[in-house]
Amino acid sequence: MSKLLVANWKMNQFTTDCHDFFFEFNKRYTKKREAWVAPQAIQIQMCNELGFKSHVLVGAQNCSEHLQGAFTGELSARALMDIGARFVILGHSERRQYFNETSKLLNAKTKTALKEGLKVIYCVGETLSEREANQTLSIVGDQIHQGLNDLSEANAQNLVVAYEPVWAIGTGKTATPAEAQEVHGFIRQELTKKFPAFGSQIKILYGGSVKPDNVEELLGQKDIDGGLVGGASLKAKDFLALCGDK
Ligand code: PGA
Repeated sequence: MSKLLVANWKMNQFTTDCHDFFFEFNKRYTKKREAWVAPQAIQIQMCNELGFKSHVLVGAQNCSEHLQGAFTGELSARALMDIGARFVILGHSERRQYFNETSKLLNAKTKTALKEGLKVIYCVGETLSEREANQTLSIVGDQIHQGLNDLSEANAQNLVVAYEPVWAIGTGKTATPAEAQEVHGFIRQELTKKFPAFGSQIKILYGGSVKPDNVEELLGQKDIDGGLVGGASLKAKDFLALCGDK
């Protein structure tokens, strides 16, 4: 399976940052690994133009479960497709934590996004206290089963799952490759049960302080198919290194 690196820029980049990033990225990206970028939604069109030469897929960090209507401030999956977004990150732990998104709500968002043709990166992960209480696999299992409830094999082909232990996001603490692999193996098994035909081919990304100096060891694990990256995706130099272009 080819490796996939996804840049989650969160609310960090502004117009000049986007220009600077792609100016550098386009010069050196060799497509050894697939690269997707999720800027703020209002920058999607601009990033599509800036990243055109590299064939980078551009996507959003959230969308509404509703398609259209009186939902002030919300972001429609259809409008995202219209401006050239091709994927959406759903269920990032910051959304679960600060915006009270539950796996049930995320299931509705996932269905809406897939129906409109967006690929979905569905995020799961346990908190530090859940890990310490030995609940990692049951928490992640529940997030998988509730969030991906009632999807078809055809849907599974447009699905990516990201495992991001909450305690490793933006903290500099990375799960060891063995810790990450244990959960990835479990997710692979659950996805294969859920989608017998395509489940084993769903990409499972690891996220949480992925950096140029730990990426190779993480990507060397059997069930780690790529990374979802925050901090180390903001500068082209670092993201290129993650993509195998040092
Ligand atoms: P980080 O963020 O790489 O800065 O830890 C990862 C993420 O939140 O997706």
